[in-house]
Amino acid sequence: MIGDLTSRLLRFLAPETAHRLTIRALRWGLAPAAPAPDDPVLTSELWGLRFRSPIGLAAGFDKNAEVPGRMAGLGFGFVEVGSITPKPQLGNPTPRLFRLPADRAVINRMGFNNDGLAVVRPRLEALGPRACPIGVNLGANKDSDDRIADYVAGMAALAGLADYVVINVSSPNTPGLRELQSQAHLRELLAGVRRAAADALGETRAPPPILVKIAPDFSQPDLAELAETLLALAVDGVIISNTSVGLRQHLHDPRRDEPGGLSGRPLFALSTECLGQFYRLSGGKLPLIGVGGIDSADGAYAKIRAGASLVQLYTGLVYEGPGLIRRLGAGLAERLRRDGFANVAEAVGADWK
Ligand SMILES: Cc1cc2nc3c(=O)[nH]c(=O)nc-3n(C[C@H](O)[C@H](O)[C@H](O)COP(=O)(O)O)c2cc1C
Repeated sequence: MIGDLTSRLLRFLAPETAHRLTIRALRWGLAPAAPAPDDPVLTSELWGLRFRSPIGLAAGFDKNAEVPGRMAGLGFGFVEVGSITPKPQLGNPTPRLFRLPADRAVINRMGFNNDGLAVVRPRLEALGPRACPIGVNLGANKDSDDRIADYVAGMAALAGLADYVVINVSSPNTPGLRELQSQAHLRELLAGVRRAAADALGETRAPPPILVKIAPDFSQPDLAELAETLLALAVDGVIISNTSVGLRQHLHDPRRDEPGGLSGRPLFALSTECLGQFYRLSGGKLPLIGVGGIDSADGAYAKIRAGASLVQLYTGLVYEGPGLIRRLGAGLAERLRRDGFANVAEAVGADWK
């Protein structure tokens, strides 16, 4: 059984081996099912989708859509698979995933290792009834000479299978990818993926909501420009944030200088600050998903009060195990009730009201 004790034991293995074993055990059904409880205070509706819990699984854990149903069974209110690139890709040489226990952090430079669209698409088709919304996170191949065309291909293949689609232009591990966060690139990118969704689905079906996932490493003026751009492009939502290339000066673990993206506890303050600023800069007009360093109910609640309609996590699971998901749900419900909120939506951005 994959429980909190097993998670602790898995930490004795190399991180990538532990991850592979976890996915395999989940596929075999060796995890105790504990679906999100039906509690009205935690329930919300966004983009016409119903979320039983605002706590979701962040991209990168189930890159290949092998276990989205199992993750819903562990209590997540939504699950994001990917990042998926058009062609399968091995990613960077190993080792490329490092635990920094002294900092409750992880550094990764995986580089979009994934099975590619041709393998992931049939997996999503085979899912059957969904226990929760499933988002699909799209990336670009490292060797691609037209990265925008890669996102367009991803949308064309998966538009009909995704409850929402994420354009991930913020991974630090594919050189040059983050340049797509510029205004000119985003305009072209959004136009391309919207056309692809309309072509794939025709007029009978509405396209999935399109979200953009951004980095936490922006100066204040650059973040203001990005917020203006994403508002003008009328994206359906923004995910804040991906891993950070900075923050190393605050770390204690000897692996602190490994190149890659930093996630976990030391990312919490920066990603929450970025989220709060973005919420204010965009006047609360765009639904935001807050991610980065959540490992407690206080952390999840702080992201919501800063402006997140939903939250996600990955690294917290590595250190706390799946029991964390239930604890976050119960703790969040308690905090919302304590502060007099009838539901999550009422608390979104409460820090600024
Ligand atoms: C090993 C690993 C792989 C990741 N892969 C992806 C990915 O493929 N696409 C993506 O958008 N984010 C990816 N992320 C970033 C997470 O989705 C999340 O934004 C980040 O880890 C911050 O959240 P956390 O502190 O809860 O982990 C990855 C993170 C980790 C640790």
